[in-house]
Amino acid sequence: MEEKRYAIVTGGNRGIGYEICRQLASKGVEVILTSRNQDRGEEAVKNLNASGFSNVIFHQLDITDPSSISCLAKFVQTHFGKLDILINNAAEIGLIIHDEEFRALGGFVHVLDEEAHLLTNIIEQPYELGERCLKINYHATKTITESFIPLLQLSKSPRIVNVSSVYGDLYWLHNEKLKEELQDIDNLTDERLDEIVQWFLTDFKTGQLKKNGWPLTVSAYKVSKIALNAYTRLMAKKYKDIFVNCVHPGYIKTGMTSQTGFATVEEGAKGPVMVALLPDNGPSGVYFDQTQIGNFSSKANPFV
Ligand SMILES: NC(=O)c1ccc[n+]([C@@H]2O[C@H](COP(=O)([O-])OP(=O)(O)OC[C@H]3O[C@@H](n4cnc5c(N)ncnc54)[C@H](OP(=O)(O)O)[C@@H]3O)[C@@H](O)[C@H]2O)c1
Repeated sequence: MEEKRYAIVTGGNRGIGYEICRQLASKGVEVILTSRNQDRGEEAVKNLNASGFSNVIFHQLDITDPSSISCLAKFVQTHFGKLDILINNAAEIGLIIHDEEFRALGGFVHVLDEEAHLLTNIIEQPYELGERCLKINYHATKTITESFIPLLQLSKSPRIVNVSSVYGDLYWLHNEKLKEELQDIDNLTDERLDEIVQWFLTDFKTGQLKKNGWPLTVSAYKVSKIALNAYTRLMAKKYKDIFVNCVHPGYIKTGMTSQTGFATVEEGAKGPVMVALLPDNGPSGVYFDQTQIGNFSSKANPFV
């Protein structure tokens, strides 16, 4: 009999995360659907159980809360003794979106740095939301990943899937030297990557985004996913026994996009699920655009 595989999905109560749980469960994986909110998470699991997926259970997890992470790690250690798949899906966009105007604009595809000055009544990016976005999408994702490495190393086929974004493409940076530095994975370090994220936050707070070539629109989210992609590559280099990859799920109709996406959550979950179930010949340290291997640094707008 095949050994059971156990997966944790962060932010599994709604959107793409919920659908990732459903699709993994349909492939026979034992899924720990996590949510920062107990009621929303239990409700999501109740729905999946009612649809016939008895192999989905709930555990509370706020990825920014170290005690919540360690409680989950203890639970997995006690009940399953290993972890096979960690899907880092939880994220925030770091923006105030004025839904009506945003939908009239046509969504994120029409949010361009060249026209940033025309967008002030459509999307706003207060510093505090940007800071929180980096905290969740980058720092907390790192913390949870590192907390589960020991349990992943007890699996025969460990996989880490970082749900990234087309906004993690280095195309969105306007600073060529920084792009080169972030591409040079042989010389990039964890410490330097943290420094770059901190440098961005300082520039964001002091109004120096343009001067230093940072993205002018959806700035914190783009930097968070650019940093997540670089982190993915550093982790793949460091842990040769674990496949660590990042995936853009597509432009999907969810709360994050105010339902402006082109595709459904069913489509959006396909890439992350495929990457979670990669066979033992890899790859690792790779960026997937949905189900296809893509580029970390595009020459033309990767969103069109
Ligand atoms: N939708 C797209 O077009 C698109 C495109 C590219 C990439 N992505 C990426 O796909 C992933 C899922 O996005 P989505 O569109 O499904 O977004 P969503 O509908 O906004 O769902 C985000 C999920 O993350 C959870 N979350 C946020 N902060 C958390 C924290 N600190 N701890 C635990 N959970 C937290 C949310 O929980 P609550 O319900 O409690 O808020 C929610 O479950 C994200 O990584 C996103 O960046 C989405």
